[in-house]
Amino acid sequence: MEKRLQGKAIIVSGAGTAGEGIGNGKAAALKFGREGAQVLCVDQNGDAAAGTAERIREEGGIAQVCQADVTSAADCDLVVDSCLKSFQKIDVLHNNVGIPGYFEIVDLPEDSWSKVFDVNVKGMFMMCKRVIPPMIKNGGGSIINISSIASHRPLPDAVYCSSKGAVDALTLYIARRYGRHNIRANVLLLGYIDTPLARPAWEIEKIKEINLKQVPLRRFASPMEVANVAAFLASDEAAYINGVILPVDGGLLVSL
Ligand SMILES: NC(=O)c1ccc[n+]([C@@H]2O[C@H](COP(=O)([O-])OP(=O)(O)OC[C@H]3O[C@@H](n4cnc5c(N)ncnc54)[C@H](O)[C@@H]3O)[C@@H](O)[C@H]2O)c1
Repeated sequence: MEKRLQGKAIIVSGAGTAGEGIGNGKAAALKFGREGAQVLCVDQNGDAAAGTAERIREEGGIAQVCQADVTSAADCDLVVDSCLKSFQKIDVLHNNVGIPGYFEIVDLPEDSWSKVFDVNVKGMFMMCKRVIPPMIKNGGGSIINISSIASHRPLPDAVYCSSKGAVDALTLYIARRYGRHNIRANVLLLGYIDTPLARPAWEIEKIKEINLKQVPLRRFASPMEVANVAAFLASDEAAYINGVILPVDGGLLVSL
């Protein structure tokens, strides 16, 4: 039976994982590989991206690596060139890179604001800008931008909330403007996902208890549960889904 992403060329940004274990980017890359896609694993940490690509290949999939910082225009050019050179097309862009800021607004240094916006918003903008022309040439594509429930329900992190709000708006803009070219753009609005970056906070029992009580499903998600939804949005099964901000949060958004 044909796999549902068979032959699709997919760029995953932040495809490595910060530290041990599996983060959202790596999980998505692995899932895409398992579904038959050709995956370009992009990360500023080349070893981490290579680790993900190796695992995809070990599982019988197709993967290439591109070490790149999404805040660099030259690196974003390199990513798109690498994908076109390796796979001759770009079907899907999975924009996963995102970092927290950690400050309340009154304590937030201006340079932290700029840094987080550069990574979380400008990086996504620069990647979208570059994949849209080849997608149009190829008859369409799917852009999946990773956001957070923080864009709808503020966390005590002013720049993170603001930057994810910009990610949502950028995605809706692309959905409206480029739908006519059969390019779909959608957001995954993540709740509490059990990743190496998020887990340290839950080592404090009190925080874990409070966060778990906020989620109607009473558990955190595994990054693979996010990856499953991303695979759907990347696939032709989602051919009529465009401009959607889709929570993957166990119901957190309706309970906060
Ligand atoms: N983990 C959660 O609970 C949670 C909740 C809501 C939203 N999110 C979002 O999910 C996404 C992934 O988060 P994660 O914690 O799973 O991380 P992850 O493990 O998927 O990604 C981190 C990777 O991104 C790479 N990276 C960082 N900055 C980069 C840059 N400038 N250029 C290229 N690569 C870069 C890192 O090297 C690392 O390998 C983020 O957008 C985050 O905001 C996560």
